[in-house]
Amino acid sequence: MHTITAGLVALSVVSLTAAQQVEWGQCGGINWTGPTTCVAGTVCTVLNPWYYQCLPGSTTPPPPPSTTSKPPTTTSKPPTTTSAPPPPPTTSSTAPPPPSGTGFVKTSGQKFMLNGAEYTVAGTNAYWLAQNSNADIDTAFADMAAAGLTTVRTWGFNDVTSPLTYGAYYQLWSNGVATFNTGAFGISRFDAVVASAKAHGIRLIVSLTNNWSDYGGMDVYVAQLNPGGTHDTFYTNPKTIAAFQNYIKNFVGRYANEPTIFGWELANEPRCGGSNGSPSAACDVAGSTINTWAKTISAYIKSIDPNHLVGLGDEGWFQLASPPTYPYQANVGIDFTKNLAISTLDFGTFHSYPESWGQGNNETLWGVDWITAHAAQQKAQNKPVLMEEFGVTVNQPSTYTLWWNTVLSSGLAGDLIWQAGSQLSTGPSPNDGYAVYPTGPVYPIMKSMASMLKARG
Ligand SMILES: *[C@@H]1O[C@H](CO)[C@@H](O)[C@H](O)[C@H]1NC(C)=O
Ligand SMILES: *[C@@H]1O[C@H](CO)[C@@H](O)[C@H](O)[C@H]1NC(C)=O
Ligand SMILES: *[C@@H]1O[C@H](CO)[C@@H](O)[C@H](O)[C@H]1NC(C)=O
Repeated sequence: MHTITAGLVALSVVSLTAAQQVEWGQCGGINWTGPTTCVAGTVCTVLNPWYYQCLPGSTTPPPPPSTTSKPPTTTSKPPTTTSAPPPPPTTSSTAPPPPSGTGFVKTSGQKFMLNGAEYTVAGTNAYWLAQNSNADIDTAFADMAAAGLTTVRTWGFNDVTSPLTYGAYYQLWSNGVATFNTGAFGISRFDAVVASAKAHGIRLIVSLTNNWSDYGGMDVYVAQLNPGGTHDTFYTNPKTIAAFQNYIKNFVGRYANEPTIFGWELANEPRCGGSNGSPSAACDVAGSTINTWAKTISAYIKSIDPNHLVGLGDEGWFQLASPPTYPYQANVGIDFTKNLAISTLDFGTFHSYPESWGQGNNETLWGVDWITAHAAQQKAQNKPVLMEEFGVTVNQPSTYTLWWNTVLSSGLAGDLIWQAGSQLSTGPSPNDGYAVYPTGPVYPIMKSMASMLKARG
């Protein structure tokens, strides 16, 4: 994400009338107007004031996954339940352990796996982590861990043309030469992010450059190595490709054996178009230019680091012959279906910002279809797909509830909200209109959904 989008029309009475709600479907909560009874074999369960859900079970509702389990009767024995024998010492498939500090996350079909157990991606974005003090980084991860999140996506880039004396930057550019920053405000700040994530049992998805000019990104490579070139020449110019690979060698190589890294991502939201105007005619807006680049760069990452997963980081545009709406048509240079087939990309990514994409009059239901369409590709190509950014600026609790519900019911591998925030020593973490904080209404829903996603498997 990049810009603050002004709130558009607050709208849409979502009317979902059906006699009985399906398993995993919503069955109540503030402002809910849909069905309030559940199909046989499921029970309408109050998870929080915003969200009641049809969970598997019969007459006795199962406890919500994280909060109300019965306390142990003595302090000398492990917790037991009254209705079942004590659990075996190893964990069951319905109650995965918190992420272990060892082992690399892998894929198996449509799932992520860690040390033989399923790994759930219930996550958030926090691009700003490395720019903060160690204490504030710890505060942020502590909040995320308390919400049950497993995975955090953050920026592994900041390209500058003059040195900073605060925060973190990793490449200093001068006259077409990039120097990897091993100084005080350099890669050691990212080491601190990794250390804190590890201490909190969280894994990181790390983007390696930016389509946008925030924190430098592709446009700095182009300005330094192909002056006057359009944004898209980042994907094709031999010098920019070599320079990006050199950066990958330094950054990715440093953490190649670090299990806290969930995976690398080629770029945040790659597109043909750039800040310096339209793309060149050479950039294929239907997707082949970025597809070729993604093959080259993902294969290069695998050659430096065979341990970690690799994703693209795109917004997930489709290229349909009869596009129902703008994000399904040839436009920005991304073909989600074609990119998902790249053998050196381990998982698919997409974002959902209907208000920014001309769907602000129908953002909630448009997003449901967008999630469903990507889940269908996950199944078709048997490769996990993440909704790794999403946001609306109006009706967040009800829209996110429906979207998360769609993630659960569609089988989509996981999601990462844009963006869970924290109260830092410097004030609230950055808010571009989408931030949700621990005291706000979205946070408890996010926490419930993390539990349910883990329970779904
Ligand atoms: C790509 O980046 C440029 C700025 O460098 C911006 O104009 C364009 O809209 C961006 N698109 C996306 C979605 O990242
Ligand atoms: C809103 O989006 C849904 C899902 O794509 C679609 O079925 C519906 O027709 C749309 N409604 C409007 C008013 O555009
Ligand atoms: C719930 O409904 C009330 C009254 O109609 C409205 O003011 C409020 O914004 C709604 N909340 C959400 C999250 O949609």
